[in-house]
Amino acid sequence: MDIIEPDVYAKQKSNAQLIAMQSIDSLIDANYRSYDQIVDIGCGDGDITKQLLGKHIPHKHILAIDVLPDMISYARRHNTDDTIEYLVQDMSVKWPLISSPRLRQLAGNVDLIFSNLALEYMADKRQIVDTFGQLLSAGGVFHANMVVMEDINKRLASYGQQPRKWYQSREKQLDNWRQSLQSDNQFLVKQFEIIDNTDDFESEKTDHLWDTAFDALVNPTADKPNPRTWQQFLADPTVTEVNRYHQLLRITAIKQ
Ligand SMILES: C[S@@+](CC[C@H](N)C(=O)[O-])C[C@H]1O[C@@H](n2cnc3c(N)ncnc32)[C@H](O)[C@@H]1O
Repeated sequence: MDIIEPDVYAKQKSNAQLIAMQSIDSLIDANYRSYDQIVDIGCGDGDITKQLLGKHIPHKHILAIDVLPDMISYARRHNTDDTIEYLVQDMSVKWPLISSPRLRQLAGNVDLIFSNLALEYMADKRQIVDTFGQLLSAGGVFHANMVVMEDINKRLASYGQQPRKWYQSREKQLDNWRQSLQSDNQFLVKQFEIIDNTDDFESEKTDHLWDTAFDALVNPTADKPNPRTWQQFLADPTVTEVNRYHQLLRITAIKQ
């Protein structure tokens, strides 16, 4: 995965908040059950964990997990709360290899697994579904939003760069999710929705961004990828804002 700097991320995530807010509203409306134990997967800087999940979803405890130690230490410094515990753990590994005793201890006792814009970084959807099945209690809810971009690896190849294993094509991601949820046989899928999403991306241009992803987001239907989109954006002082387009996949599933 490309490293995301916590300070950079904290400044540019208004769209992530909006997406998460829609989810929180729908979870409250659906009122599946009470969510005493919540796990937030790929919590990043912890802002959504604290301000949205923590404030709007009644709970006793939230375990918020991220693979990047820098993100977790930022979250502990900026988004601490009595009911929130932050944990460094790579969620892309198989359940038997999850090393954190804290997380393993929760097996079968999690009422809500929430994830906003993080599961797209984890290639093996079957493995994720298996892990979530291990963690959730019967009736527990898995709710996630993730980005489904067009095939980034095709663009990387045309830039002469190596493909990134974790990023799959749009069709493959959707198929993998469908098949994984179906074959796991433990989940009742309540929502499998693809949402067109556009956001105004305003940048101080001081941060790094992954160039290929930027091009794919800004020029999604371009016949020919432009490896210089980000550099050109940086170089033009008159343009500070661009529209980014992508699709989101929103899943809600209940463990039987
Ligand atoms: C785009 S950020 C989203 C952060 C937050 N959920 C939000 O909506 O603002 C994606 C986060 O997923 C985390 N992530 C990526 N792969 C992960 C993995 N294998 N295990 C745990 N976290 C991961 C990244 O470190 C990053 O902080």
